[in-house]
Amino acid sequence: MDTPDPRAQADAAGVAGEILRPRPKGAARRMRILFLGDIVGRPGRSIVFERLGQVRRDLSLDLVVANGENASGGIGLTAKAARQLLDAGIDVLTGGNHIFRHKDILPVFASEDRLLRPANYPPGAPGVGWRVYRPAGLPAFAVINLLGRVFMPAVDCPFRAADAILAEIPTDVTLCLVDFHAEATSEKKALAYYLDGRVSAVLGTHTHVQTNDAQLLPRGTATLTDCGMTGPAASALGMAPEEVIARYLTGLHHRFVVARTPPEMQGALLDVDAATGKVVTIAAWRLT
Ligand SMILES: [Fe+2]
Ligand SMILES: [Fe+2]
Repeated sequence: MDTPDPRAQADAAGVAGEILRPRPKGAARRMRILFLGDIVGRPGRSIVFERLGQVRRDLSLDLVVANGENASGGIGLTAKAARQLLDAGIDVLTGGNHIFRHKDILPVFASEDRLLRPANYPPGAPGVGWRVYRPAGLPAFAVINLLGRVFMPAVDCPFRAADAILAEIPTDVTLCLVDFHAEATSEKKALAYYLDGRVSAVLGTHTHVQTNDAQLLPRGTATLTDCGMTGPAASALGMAPEEVIARYLTGLHHRFVVARTPPEMQGALLDVDAATGKVVTIAAWRLT
């Protein structure tokens, strides 16, 4: 039998609070989902490899979704890293503005259903931006990956892309998670309210800074403006601060490198009513 890591319990309980209490009797139809913010570089991959299995057991997780757009060298995702992260216990990997950085990931989109890229890239981009999954023993669920347009590359409208996707998702699929990979808090809040009552959760990624605004919106959609980062905690968004400072001081190009400081996992922890797809509880979550 595995021994729970007391540090993991304490750290998680300190942030997630009530959600970590034992599930009440009759709550068998609850699903517990962990959504991890952007995995950054080797430190981010390492903490997933070393700790996610235990976290899955400690928190009785049914599902883990993670944004992998920075997992390789801090920018992009290689085919090897994608495979290793999926093997380490991540059920679905989502992307963002850097997801196509490493060319060897492109053919993986054709063969790996558990890898998504933002749905609102223009037509012709490799891969797809949403899927319905029907795992054995669990309710069917959908994951939608969208990219914001404020201070971001020019892509199609994420609001209208969401409308089009929701029109295609079969009606028996009530659990729907949205990864909205975006810079501006205003755009993230707007999309969360736009989709309120139509999806289970709108979870922000991309900024690498976890926000403190987990909430249930009036029509029941859960949201957290940014899930944060799974990567080196003492850093400038995952990068060593020295080169970032030098770029600001001089205006010249300085190549950023991933910080070699101890990693954290950060994300959102959700308890969901499996029958309705409604989130019962959402909390920001972190593990040092
Ligand atoms: Fe990003
Ligand atoms: Fe990122």
